[in-house]
Amino acid sequence: MKTMHLYLLTGLVVFATISCSNSSARNNENNNSKNSVNMKFEKVALPYETDALEPVISKQTVELHYGIHHQAYVDNLNKLVVGTKLEDADLVTVVKESDGAIFNNAGQILNHNLYFTSFKKGGGGEPTGQLGDAINEQFGSFEKFKEEFNAAGVSVFGSGWVWLAKDDNGKLSIEKESGGGNPVTKGLTPILGFDVWEHSYYLDYQNRRAEHLKEIWKIVDWETVGQRY
Ligand SMILES: [Fe+2]
Repeated sequence: MKTMHLYLLTGLVVFATISCSNSSARNNENNNSKNSVNMKFEKVALPYETDALEPVISKQTVELHYGIHHQAYVDNLNKLVVGTKLEDADLVTVVKESDGAIFNNAGQILNHNLYFTSFKKGGGGEPTGQLGDAINEQFGSFEKFKEEFNAAGVSVFGSGWVWLAKDDNGKLSIEKESGGGNPVTKGLTPILGFDVWEHSYYLDYQNRRAEHLKEIWKIVDWETVGQRY
């Protein structure tokens, strides 16, 4: 009998370990913004040095934007969700199902995680593959797409974002969002987002948002961005 209990106990431990491991893996796939140990929301790791995007975006701006602003959104959300129904939800679910301060901070974590992983040293050029084809087909050419995208970014009133997004059929659209908005709230998948909050460009371009938007294409990592299509 004791042997049977031992087998049962061992089986339960193995099952619990596998379940926990699978759950952790799923969470990591669905949301790279949570630490698998303490399940707190986190900002994405910066995939380049802080001076890698110069002269388009200065080291000082990356340090301030990624190091201070982005961190603040993470710290805020981790405090705000405690005790709410969204405490254990993945980041996209939090963005879709929240409002007020939780939405603002969760949206900005999602936005900035996408933003900071959209660039690389020596980036730029044009998208190739399926995304490149879709842009040419739906906007006429990459140049026309950029013109339309930049015009949308310039016209965002106050702080916000301009996004390239796709629907479930692969149809592309340019989406303007205010504050911490993200196209996921419209059932769309974000492909590329440019931050038009002044904190993203003011040190380098002062109030010249249009100039910043013109320059930022020079650092886009189309390989990474193309994988989101
Ligand atoms: Fe920002």
